[in-house]
Amino acid sequence: MTAALIDGKAAAAALREKVAVEVARFREATGRAPGLAVVLVGEDPASAVYVRSKGKATREAGMESFEHKLPATTSQDDLLTLVDQLNADPSVDGILVQLPLPPQIDERVVITRIDPDKDVDGFHPVNAGRLATGLPGFVPCTPLGCLMLLRQTLGELSGKSAVVIGRSNIVGKPMALLLLGDSCTVTIAHSRTRDLPDVVRQADIVVAAVGRPEMVKGDWLKPGATVIDVGINRVEGSLVGDVDFASASAVAGAITPVPGGVGPMTIACLIRNTFVSACRTEG
Ligand code: GUN
Repeated sequence: MTAALIDGKAAAAALREKVAVEVARFREATGRAPGLAVVLVGEDPASAVYVRSKGKATREAGMESFEHKLPATTSQDDLLTLVDQLNADPSVDGILVQLPLPPQIDERVVITRIDPDKDVDGFHPVNAGRLATGLPGFVPCTPLGCLMLLRQTLGELSGKSAVVIGRSNIVGKPMALLLLGDSCTVTIAHSRTRDLPDVVRQADIVVAAVGRPEMVKGDWLKPGATVIDVGINRVEGSLVGDVDFASASAVAGAITPVPGGVGPMTIACLIRNTFVSACRTEG
């Protein structure tokens, strides 16, 4: 292995600590704690784990966590009623509805119902539009965490070539816009991209967010490239990324491990976004 490890765990701990210090000051100045409401519909075990970690991190930062657990049979109307209540509640600065939702509920309708100024996930079309046009708004937590890791690893990103593999609304598209915002030359690759290894080989920065275990191989990489692996795939009981770590770490200059890379940064950025929301409300 020649690549330096990008320690997302340490970076996330530092960000959470920084926010906790600022939250303490906020509480003193305003007499209230910032609040995050997390809504879980159904019993999906992976979602339940995520929701628990989000609640724990919220409380550890000195913020209030409001957890709403609804049965898998919840109707879309009932969920929308809860979202309306949370939108109107001044003690709630951030609202997160954990995805995926059960099949009777249209995700897009629910996301669009969240007040864009409480949408700490950054999934609302208004926030997607703000990101696309360079206006201030909430940026989805996973790509925001990736950008922070890249800046910390490389310093200035301007002029670098970046390939984002994956075009989801949650990771791929916002990631590409963030890199563009930092003046990278950005390519979005996806399942229909021709000659993907050749495309990836041009890149100084590779962000893999496809959900295919160990797809990106070491011989696809430009030597010295910085590799951010967003994938979390369970294979035979263990977690692997979208990058084949063994071969990639022999070629890359720096690489995130799975677990311990991007994952912890996602939650740290959620805490950060919630705090930023509370600050905006208090003016
Ligand atoms: N499901 C998996 N990741 C996420 C996330 O970042 N936000 C929400 N709301 N649901 C998710």
